[in-house]
Amino acid sequence: MNLQYLIGVDLGTSGTKTVLFDIHGKEIASALEEYPLYQPQNGWAEQEPEDWWQAALHTIQAVIAKSGVNPKDIAGLSLSGQMHGLVLTDDNGSALGRSIIWCDNRTIESCDEFTRLVGGRERLIQIAANPALTGFTAGKVLWVREHLPDVWAKARHIQLPKDYVRLKLTGEYHMDISDASGTNLLDVPHRCWSKEICEKTGIPMDMLPPLVESCEVAGRITEEASKLTGLPVGMPVAAGAGDNMAAAIGTGVVREGKAFTTIGTSGVIFAHSDSVQIDPAGRVHTFCAAVPGAYVVMGVGLAAGLSLKWCRDQFFQAEIEVAKEMGTDSYVLMNQEAARSPIGANRLIYLPYLMGERSPILDPESRGVLFGLSAMHTKKDIVRAVMEGVMYSQWHNLNVLRGMHVAPNAMLACGGGAKSPFWRQMMADMYNMPVSTLQNTEGPALGAAILAGVGAGIYKDVPSACAELLKESEPLLPDAQRHAAYEPYFDLYQKIYLDLKDEFHTLANL
Ligand code: XUL
Repeated sequence: MNLQYLIGVDLGTSGTKTVLFDIHGKEIASALEEYPLYQPQNGWAEQEPEDWWQAALHTIQAVIAKSGVNPKDIAGLSLSGQMHGLVLTDDNGSALGRSIIWCDNRTIESCDEFTRLVGGRERLIQIAANPALTGFTAGKVLWVREHLPDVWAKARHIQLPKDYVRLKLTGEYHMDISDASGTNLLDVPHRCWSKEICEKTGIPMDMLPPLVESCEVAGRITEEASKLTGLPVGMPVAAGAGDNMAAAIGTGVVREGKAFTTIGTSGVIFAHSDSVQIDPAGRVHTFCAAVPGAYVVMGVGLAAGLSLKWCRDQFFQAEIEVAKEMGTDSYVLMNQEAARSPIGANRLIYLPYLMGERSPILDPESRGVLFGLSAMHTKKDIVRAVMEGVMYSQWHNLNVLRGMHVAPNAMLACGGGAKSPFWRQMMADMYNMPVSTLQNTEGPALGAAILAGVGAGIYKDVPSACAELLKESEPLLPDAQRHAAYEPYFDLYQKIYLDLKDEFHTLANL
């Protein structure tokens, strides 16, 4: 036995990606399995916990087979998971139907009720560090209790998506502190379940699993899981982390002054903090970090890459075809188009609220806007405006972080959007700070693997493992003139939402 490998399982929304790394952080093999997202009504979003488990199983089998490594040489496994989804399990640990996931918006009334029961928004933010948001778990618990009483009567355990997969691997109930931070039930400053919130809202505390730090071993591969996956019986499984906290580990954002921006489907701006910092207005989220004892502050915009994908699918069909013929990516061609339009997109401003918005405006009823559309505009202006609007939203969140004194002075760019040098330069110019990337782009899976390595005793602790394994690229530098040119458009971007706020609510109720 020569413990040389680690596995990171990244349970995402479109699929699960499992990556086998060597202990120096080099990717050896990866496998992806996709699964459906069910949207039975407008604004609802559900997934099947069994799909997550099957995808984890198949991708673990696949990376072992592809890499040809002896499973006995794998030191440990851990998970990164989409946050907030409610998985209710019965006495036997079987999932009670589909999970209501993070991007579901059905719980506006349940969230209001939850806030009222806790004693108001201010008290809730004092304890849970965050307001009750429709994406978060507690509103979903109240919704099931009210609308699906039969399911609620059978429910014994409250879990999050990756906890369910870990339960299948180890037979043990646990939740890691970083993911638990997104439930609205955790006392975030004290890193424990809140007795006060549970008592006031009538959520039985014994439905909540024992809490562990992300790098702690939260069980070992059972005989049954070993037969199914090929992993050795008794192999340690570290608790893992919510996807953004795992990405922070995988990108080395593990000490004060470090931060990353992700442009994936959603857009995230994320800063590490050694102490707990809470926005009293709840505009950005404060969660426990996957680094023991530390915290993170992050803003989440719901339609970042999603906006560009929407734009591509509606207006860039020809580019999709040309890209196929050229063997390139349609987004590369869209970037070239965008670069032909000037800063400000010829006076066209896009608000990226296609899915309603979380940070910093917290308005599920807001919607997208293309402001200033003129007959002179062409596709190049539209795509540039969309890319700028997504970045204005990130800049808006960065300014909240600046107000909380947790903003960095350099940024790491991750996610699909970070592959675009054009978008990265826009980020550097708007944020007015250097922006770099990492050689390894598998942030969450690598973060999970590092947590597995700490749990298994391969690395001393999370920060030293990151310092050893991760290498940043040369940064793109900001340009002061371009920063100044973006500023008036950004000011107007913020004002347009404020001016339209009431109209969004009128529209939603027509
Ligand atoms: C974080 C959040 C998303 C999900 C899905 O608050 O809602 O990042 O974890 O990726």
